[in-house]
Amino acid sequence: MDLGGGTGANLQCLDDRIHRLHKVYVVDLSTSLLEVARRRAEALRWHNVEVVRGDATTFRPPEGEVDVVTFSYALTMIPEWYAAVANAEAMLKPGGTIGVVDFYVARKHPSSGLARHRWITRAFWPLWFSIDNVFLSCDHLPFLRCRFDTISLHEGRSKVPYVPLGRVPFYVFLGRKPARQDFADGRPGSLNPGAAEMDERGS
Ligand SMILES: C[S@@+](CC[C@H](N)C(=O)[O-])C[C@H]1O[C@@H](n2cnc3c(N)ncnc32)[C@H](O)[C@@H]1O
Repeated sequence: MDLGGGTGANLQCLDDRIHRLHKVYVVDLSTSLLEVARRRAEALRWHNVEVVRGDATTFRPPEGEVDVVTFSYALTMIPEWYAAVANAEAMLKPGGTIGVVDFYVARKHPSSGLARHRWITRAFWPLWFSIDNVFLSCDHLPFLRCRFDTISLHEGRSKVPYVPLGRVPFYVFLGRKPARQDFADGRPGSLNPGAAEMDERGS
């Protein structure tokens, strides 16, 4: 399940492995991008790929549950990103995997082990990207870490066009939906989201 999947270009990274998957959904709000995805699926004979115009905050597949949900540079374009993550969590099987890659900025006081960013980084990049309606947040990553068990996390910096000397921070988060959902101690899957992160000083 690729939410905010746009043109489906990322699926090409799977090469022939895409045929091993039972079913793939590319969900997006943009009909023009989905048309590109539809043509790509047709040209590459991806018979298991379904392209759907839908909202990442509400779309559910008819199968009910999925094994994997991905967001590639999508959360920063979804105003109700927390609802999109909650929707992803709800449709994932217990033990299912979420993969998120996106730009972000660190909190002023990040949790231990997370990258720190200077104030100029935290101030400049959200402003720069907001011109294109891309909203970098210091809360996406803490929320993901709160709701899912972390399988792996990579925080890096990437070049962007028109800013020769700057490097925008990005993260790649792989998480697992906890098997149990019935405890309320602020750990992943808890009924008390945010408590674990709130132990640390927030932004
Ligand atoms: C920067 S593009 C990323 C596209 C693709 N995932 C990629 O990596 O190339 C963000 C996408 O999120 C989509 N989007 C924004 N809000 C959405 C929503 N509420 N539901 C579904 N898609 C949404 C946009 O239409 C856009 O295609």
